[in-house]
Amino acid sequence: MPIGSPPAAALVTGASSGIGWAYAESLVQRGYEVIAVARREKRLRELVAELTDRGPGTVRYVVADLTKASGLQACRDALGPNRVDVAVLNAGFGSLGPLIEADRRREADMVRLNCAAVVDLACDVLPEMVGRGRGAVIVVSSAAADQPIPFMSTYAATKAFGLHFTAALAEELRGTGVRAIAVCPGPVHTEFGAAAGAGSYQGPVPFSPVERVVERTWEGLRRGRVRVDVGPVAALTRVGRPLPRALPTRVAAYLHRRRERR
Ligand SMILES: NC(=O)c1ccc[n+]([C@@H]2O[C@H](COP(=O)([O-])OP(=O)(O)OC[C@H]3O[C@@H](n4cnc5c(N)ncnc54)[C@H](OP(=O)(O)O)[C@@H]3O)[C@@H](O)[C@H]2O)c1
Repeated sequence: MPIGSPPAAALVTGASSGIGWAYAESLVQRGYEVIAVARREKRLRELVAELTDRGPGTVRYVVADLTKASGLQACRDALGPNRVDVAVLNAGFGSLGPLIEADRRREADMVRLNCAAVVDLACDVLPEMVGRGRGAVIVVSSAAADQPIPFMSTYAATKAFGLHFTAALAEELRGTGVRAIAVCPGPVHTEFGAAAGAGSYQGPVPFSPVERVVERTWEGLRRGRVRVDVGPVAALTRVGRPLPRALPTRVAAYLHRRRERR
């Protein structure tokens, strides 16, 4: 791990499952003192139980709903004046289906979590990182960030926000010793699909394991990247980037309509 030297501290949001859990695990293995954030306390307790004896790092948790000001404050309180060497801003969720049938409160919460909480937490950790001249902010975006995706319209737009925000931030931070990197995975085996209302649907597309997302992140930081793509679907969206935006948007709409009919 190129950033910080033990005992360094790391914040991981959305650590109660999936990709966030894998980041927490990897950071503990690398000797970090991890602060794990999510809403489900039972899961967070399981994370602590599983990682505590593994070391060499440590893990503690904060129960917080990051769509709420009180949740963001709980997170801030847990960080206190302590330095954070690595912030993994990963908590997020999506939804599937036509917007006119969506729960508008849930869509708005998605924007709060996937966009506003990322900005808020970055503002918390960055001044101290810049003052010290080192640190890394890792924003988990998505392969869905590159284009509008009908029937996942809010989600894809929130992930585009994360990608653009991080790319701009990386440039702002140039020369400070602090890094920002956007991680853009294609489909990954996690609870994401179930949370988005896709049930156990896995589709014909290849899924990546969570460990691959984490490995690619460390590799991207080592290589000085501001963005890493993970998995074959992410590679495919890269091919589509030079196309006029309307074309991949139509293709995405077609694929989602077919999925809904199944
Ligand atoms: N899986 C994929 O195919 C995929 C692909 C590309 C990008 N991503 C991105 O990867 C990130 C992690 O997702 P995942 O795939 O690991 O899904 P996941 O297994 O559903 O994990 C989502 C995490 O976010 C937390 N979370 C959800 N709502 C929250 C809230 N209001 N406040 C605090 N924490 C909250 C969840 O914990 P609690 O429920 O305990 O709060 C959980 O720990 C997301 O940003 C997602 O957009 C996923």
